[in-house]
Amino acid sequence: MGHGKASAPAKIILFGEHFVVYGSPAILAAINKRVSVDTQITIDEENKIVIRSDIGVAGRYSDDGEFNALEGGTKSKAILDPLYSAIKQVLLIRNEKKIGIEVCISSKVPPGIGLGSSSASCVATVAAVDSLFQNNPSRQKVCELAIQSERRIHKRTSGADCYVSTFGGLMQYYSKSKSFKNIQTKGLLSLVVASTGVKHYTSDLVTGVKRFKDTNKILFESLAKQASDICLQACTAIESGNLDKIGELMNENQILLQQIGISHHKIHDIIDICSKAGAIGAKITGAGGGGAVIALAESKQESTKIASHVKAAGYQSFEVEIDYNGLSI
Ligand code: MEV
Repeated sequence: MGHGKASAPAKIILFGEHFVVYGSPAILAAINKRVSVDTQITIDEENKIVIRSDIGVAGRYSDDGEFNALEGGTKSKAILDPLYSAIKQVLLIRNEKKIGIEVCISSKVPPGIGLGSSSASCVATVAAVDSLFQNNPSRQKVCELAIQSERRIHKRTSGADCYVSTFGGLMQYYSKSKSFKNIQTKGLLSLVVASTGVKHYTSDLVTGVKRFKDTNKILFESLAKQASDICLQACTAIESGNLDKIGELMNENQILLQQIGISHHKIHDIIDICSKAGAIGAKITGAGGGGAVIALAESKQESTKIASHVKAAGYQSFEVEIDYNGLSI
């Protein structure tokens, strides 16, 4: 019986979230927290697709797409639907319409806080299922299928999260051309992630920003232009290892995110704790509305100190490293 395995990293967005949906560039990094997927063809339950995740959700889809929750109740459908869609697309492309598949997901990525757990799950699921039929599937193809699947719940996705999860590293992502450029860092970027503990739904936040954009057209255009400029300057600052400039630009980017209404009082609290603990810059990472903050530190020692201050205030916090491997099959 065929088995397939793949894993894909979570991500942080250093610059440009939300504005990237409307064509501005963004800077993202894959991080050393992964989602792993194991899959196998099943003979006993022909045509059935069973998906289990260790985040406490599981469900079975019958041949005609009818969903039955096995764990996690009704909320499990919204989480599992993009993965089901990903699996169905792969089976369609491989002309394998008459088989059952079981997929087991094990995740080291906290869900719903902006670290791209759903994108990493989609990328790893597409790759694991495709590897049942094809040796070493094309990464570009895996990425495209994962984006299409994500669109089931997050219609306006820029595709940035799936790109960085597939290709890894630190990158500038261009949503207009669906392409990216790797950024070489001069020196180490010591980064801390801190979670507000407030879960969010990316698609709801993106819809809220669209509403803001539609009612504040001129203002939004100006903010998007500033976000693009910040991103371009940040790229140069990262390449030249200018930590002070990177930090300053993170703080400027945070102000733009506050203006489009996706910040949260717990974000402000964490940013305050981070800067008092010596962070050079700090901002929302991902969709916001709660979610997580990233902070930049002067050194590894400083990032350990910042993380411990954030933890002492009662928030979950950890240091992250850039993952240069991306999707692993
Ligand atoms: C979510 O991680 C990033 C957003 O910019 C949405 C997207 O790019 O699809 C908020």
